[in-house]
Amino acid sequence: MAPPPRGALRGWGPALCWGLALCCLCGAGPLWSGNHEWKKLILTQHWPPTVCKEGNSCQDSLDYWTIHGLWPDKGEECNRSWHFNLDEIKDLLRDMKIYWPDVLHPHSNRSQFWKHEWDKHGTCAAEVDALNSEKKYFGKSLDLYKQVDLNSVLLKFGIKPSINYYNISDFKDALTRFYGVVPKIQCLLPEKGEEVQTIGQIELCFTKEDLHLRNCTEPGGQQSHKWDVWQAKGAAAQGMVVCDDGPIFYPPPTRTPH
Ligand SMILES: *[C@@H]1O[C@H](CO)[C@@H](O)[C@H](O)[C@H]1NC(C)=O
Ligand SMILES: *[C@@H]1O[C@H](CO)[C@@H](O)[C@H](O)[C@H]1NC(C)=O
Ligand SMILES: *[C@@H]1O[C@H](CO)[C@@H](O)[C@H](O)[C@H]1NC(C)=O
Ligand SMILES: *[C@@H]1O[C@H](CO)[C@@H](O)[C@H](O)[C@H]1NC(C)=O
Repeated sequence: MAPPPRGALRGWGPALCWGLALCCLCGAGPLWSGNHEWKKLILTQHWPPTVCKEGNSCQDSLDYWTIHGLWPDKGEECNRSWHFNLDEIKDLLRDMKIYWPDVLHPHSNRSQFWKHEWDKHGTCAAEVDALNSEKKYFGKSLDLYKQVDLNSVLLKFGIKPSINYYNISDFKDALTRFYGVVPKIQCLLPEKGEEVQTIGQIELCFTKEDLHLRNCTEPGGQQSHKWDVWQAKGAAAQGMVVCDDGPIFYPPPTRTPH
């Protein structure tokens, strides 16, 4: 398995701040926009060893954060007549297999996972020009994943999987400091016999207008709220909730012989 992308880090910090600054100038958007109008994109990455606590025959030997999806914050299945076609992303398949694997079902037809993401989220994201085709949607998702380079950023702050617990603030502080925006971090609640929550998913948010990093929280809104409508919709399947303050387990991958 190829390692996560490296070296995308240099010079990115200032570019992000600049992007954020530009966006601050454009204001909050029209108040009269429809209910289903989405405002931001959520790049969701998950940690395979945690995802695999929930499934059998799962790909838990992966030792890097992988893409779960790129989700508009509102709306699902916006265009049911826009059918997923694997051929359209055949140029991206190499990267898709490495960075966007179906962690839970490694042995089934992996394009079913991509089809699901396209049907449910891609057809809504396609409202903006930068994402208005399958190729652009998946290509841009991969670009954003490489640009934010979460795997390298965590390592840069000395955060690596460990049998010793971290504090959730270790993650929050590192990511907020590096990206200059507030991410959303999700955990699996402790199971019977476990002491602490397990980190499972990290969301970074982007502006709709120009796909620059922005806070996942709304100005003046709750910093993290367990019953957030989006969380309930997006993560219920895997039982993930916004992490509580306090200790957190970042599980090392299960090593399988190659
Ligand atoms: C839905 O998708 C079809 C097929 O790509 C396209 O022709 C149509 O314009 C789309 N409808 C909307 C509202 O975007
Ligand atoms: C896998 O799924 C894709 C998309 O749904 C489909 O086009 C393809 O034929 C499937 N492949 C197999 C081997 O079933
Ligand atoms: C975790 O971080 C919070 C906020 O910085 C702090 O109040 C708390 O004491 C820390 N807990 C541990 C166990 O280090
Ligand atoms: C992002 O969130 C931080 C912390 O809550 C806040 O200080 C900052 O002003 C927010 N930025 C924007 C652009 O809303």
